[in-house]
Amino acid sequence: MESDESIEVLLSEEELQARVRELGRQITQDYEGKPLLVVGILKGSAVFLADLIRSIDLPLDYDFVAISSYGADTRSSGVVRLIKDLDASVEGRHVLIVEDIVDTGWTLRLSYLAENIKARKAASVKVCTLLDKPSRRQVDVGIDYCGFVIEDVYVVGYGLDYKGRYRNMRYVGVVKPD
Ligand code: IMP
Ligand code: MG
Repeated sequence: MESDESIEVLLSEEELQARVRELGRQITQDYEGKPLLVVGILKGSAVFLADLIRSIDLPLDYDFVAISSYGADTRSSGVVRLIKDLDASVEGRHVLIVEDIVDTGWTLRLSYLAENIKARKAASVKVCTLLDKPSRRQVDVGIDYCGFVIEDVYVVGYGLDYKGRYRNMRYVGVVKPD
């Protein structure tokens, strides 16, 4: 094998696709008649967002923000910067923030992303995450839609990376160092 690690399947492509379609149906019901803007947090959410929006049967647009934390430990640095802002105004629009995974919660908390978007007069702001690791939570983050609750394991694939790899896997897996 060319890789140094082996990957164990946690969520198969079929499980992911079925759950994403369900989330799409629920969001379609909840946002009927509302102008929807889906906002992905780069880079991890891109794959999930691409599938999710195609399961939402409503007129919508999407955009991305990028958040950077200094160093590996967001909490100890306490610094999170918005390094790519939204392209257009959110005034009067219903914003759905899309995240790949909520782990400690610090990224969403310290970025004040939801508060920031509300302050720009969005009609509403909700959060949709593909994965939630509640056992790792250090600060409260309001999650409105969640794909899967998972154990405290480091996962890759379907947009999630380990050292810049595995984002293009069709399933979510756990890295097992050899
Ligand atoms: P938080 O600030 O601890 O909630 O971390 C959120 C971010 O950390 C996610 O958006 C991911 O980029 C990254 N992250 C956390 N857990 C994992 C994981 O298991 N695999 C890949 N990335 C992760
Ligand atoms: Mg992320």
